Amino acid sequence: MHNNWELMNILICEPDRKLGSTCINGLNERSHESIHVDNGRDAQRLLVQKVFEVTVVDVELSSFSALEVIKFIRFKNIKTKIILTSKSERLFDECLLSKANLKKLGVASVLTRPFSLDKLESEIKGFFDRQSWRDVEENSNFTEEEITAFDDQFTSMKIEEFFCGNLAIFDVFIRLSKNKYLKILNRGESLEQERLDNYKEKKNVTHLYFKTQDRKVYINFLNDLIGKLKARPNINPKTRINFSQNLTGFMVQEIYTKGMDRETLKESVSVCESIHHTVESMPGLKSLLEEYLLYEDSEEGHIFLTMIYTDAILKKLEWVTDHSRPKILLGAMLHDLGKLKLNKVIRGKKSEELDGKSLIEYQQHPKLGMDLLERIPEIDQAVKLTVYQHHELVNGEGYPQGLAGSKIYPPAKVVGFANHLADLSIGLGLAPYGIITRMIEEKQEIFGFDPDIVRAFINCFKPEDEL
Ligand SMILES: [Fe+2]
Repeated sequence: MHNNWELMNILICEPDRKLGSTCINGLNERSHESIHVDNGRDAQRLLVQKVFEVTVVDVELSSFSALEVIKFIRFKNIKTKIILTSKSERLFDECLLSKANLKKLGVASVLTRPFSLDKLESEIKGFFDRQSWRDVEENSNFTEEEITAFDDQFTSMKIEEFFCGNLAIFDVFIRLSKNKYLKILNRGESLEQERLDNYKEKKNVTHLYFKTQDRKVYINFLNDLIGKLKARPNINPKTRINFSQNLTGFMVQEIYTKGMDRETLKESVSVCESIHHTVESMPGLKSLLEEYLLYEDSEEGHIFLTMIYTDAILKKLEWVTDHSRPKILLGAMLHDLGKLKLNKVIRGKKSEELDGKSLIEYQQHPKLGMDLLERIPEIDQAVKLTVYQHHELVNGEGYPQGLAGSKIYPPAKVVGFANHLADLSIGLGLAPYGIITRMIEEKQEIFGFDPDIVRAFINCFKPEDEL
């Protein structure tokens, strides 16, 4: 079996020689290539000579301390994931290494002794598990199993939208009652449509569940799948839309709950590119969206539609370049990220349903979104500005700053308008042509938006006979 972390190089920096050699013997037996050093000086020497995917550093390292080795890795910009180990949690505090500090220094994970080799290996694997679906091994001995686990550890999806190729890429569950689940598929088991249909039709199962920790694996899988579909024009456009929508939904959930690290950012940009290809490859987008709106009403649907409308408009605007497009799409995907920081009651409402204090709080969400993104240095200023200004209106009646006309960042104008269109689509069940008709009838509404952008949208979705 090919295993994409089979040949991983690991450096173990451990002052206790016996423990160090136990580690490397164990890891090497499991097909890794690991080296042990018992002091910081040797660690630094090896780090410049050889590439290590992972470096494990013990807090009590001497002759260049653990902190010096970590700073060295950072200073020299050496690409290695750092795991810091210690015999007691207290030692981290004594070395003035708080969790926040460790993160700033680039420490990816912390382990307190005693830990098993399995634990160490699973930490290491954790860094690379986005692609673990590539390593699925066939597993044929399986019977259903009931388990008890907290609801908040699971992510749900509609049963008809579940897809993962020939072998299940993670364990799949049905929810029985509060905190009770039935495992119906084991990772590696082959998937028979018949069995799924049986759950759906005979047992009235509407949703399947998987562990939230597997969500990033699924994101990576779907994104790869959509990339492959690009080369196959005969795939039903509706299937493409479904995959893309699921992908966007999971991606945003992942960012909402786990935050955005470098890897997630990279994946988000590639999700945006997938969406772009989806849109580009669908000339009959108008009728598809009509169909799609018949059953869609979720928040993820809103994000997906905002992205689709944004992308459609961008194609008609001359100032958009290949360089700026993914950033604007990322802004479209993340435009409401700040809602995460709002009180739960307010979060799910539209501004029209709120007044007084709640409205003022709600109107902070663009600023809160930008603040969340401010913490991630890799996020481009263009994305932050788009998020911050997506509710500004050209007539100056928007929020949070009340900017008008050319003071508003153009990509934010596009995303803001696409956001409004997505609201109309979902709220009123209007397909693109219906929105255009409504906008022409209710001119008042249109004054908040840039006429060039409105025109670009109309050009995208004109009924065929007028083109
Ligand atoms: Fe918003």
